[in-house]
Amino acid sequence: MEVIIRPTEEAAAKLTAKIIADAINDKPEFKLGLATGATMEAVYAELSALNKANKVDFSQVRTWNLDEYVGLAPEHDQSYRYYMNKNLFNNVNIDKRNTHLPDGLAINEELEAAVYDESIDEAGGIDLWLVGIGKSGHIGFNDPGTSLASRTHVAYLTNTTYEQNKIYFNPPESMPRRAFTAGVGTVLDAKKVVQLITGERKADIAAAAIEGPITSMISSTALQMHPDTVVILDEAAAAKLKLRDFYNEVFMNDPKWEAYR
Ligand code: PGA
Repeated sequence: MEVIIRPTEEAAAKLTAKIIADAINDKPEFKLGLATGATMEAVYAELSALNKANKVDFSQVRTWNLDEYVGLAPEHDQSYRYYMNKNLFNNVNIDKRNTHLPDGLAINEELEAAVYDESIDEAGGIDLWLVGIGKSGHIGFNDPGTSLASRTHVAYLTNTTYEQNKIYFNPPESMPRRAFTAGVGTVLDAKKVVQLITGERKADIAAAAIEGPITSMISSTALQMHPDTVVILDEAAAAKLKLRDFYNEVFMNDPKWEAYR
């Protein structure tokens, strides 16, 4: 696991977007895993700007998102399909037929989840999955207790996640308590994982996720077992990391990061 700390949220998001854009430029038929949430808005704004400036081409890119609320139609303004269209897909030259999210209205949930995993496998797997982290330590909606080998499934959300996300709903109590989520195992199958963590409110969970023991109580800790994970934080989210100075030394001196400093 590589850890990169940038001074601000903006710099962290820009670095994240550059890593993704460079990877797409290396392999135009890219299979990209995506996440939603407040943290990612700056990444998608930057990718949209890079696309507008002809610095990254999404025409052959295919995407799979981590999750979608059960019961929300794509047009619902809190559905993750709506979020993705608004923050990224409407702003870049991607073919929307190449963008995948679980169908929140699927009648047969088990089938929908199985077909989602199959569609990733049939495409040859995800090249890079962009993930965030929730206050519960989740990646996707894999809240505490979820198997670290889980595949795509419907999860019942914990109170921590409900409290974190219900503020976006009107009324807050209308937030669905269940959601489709790619499993921890689904994410671990990606060739590369890039995790973005920003803000003081994430400092405790970031330290536990990056430097604590691997546990299903914090599904993000499973990324410690992934052979190619880069975690990008701003100073505020990195405040409680024990090896902060070491991570900074590596970033400033390892030639592989030269183009990103
Ligand atoms: P946030 O959500 O970016 O809105 O903090 C991240 C998450 O819950 O995974």
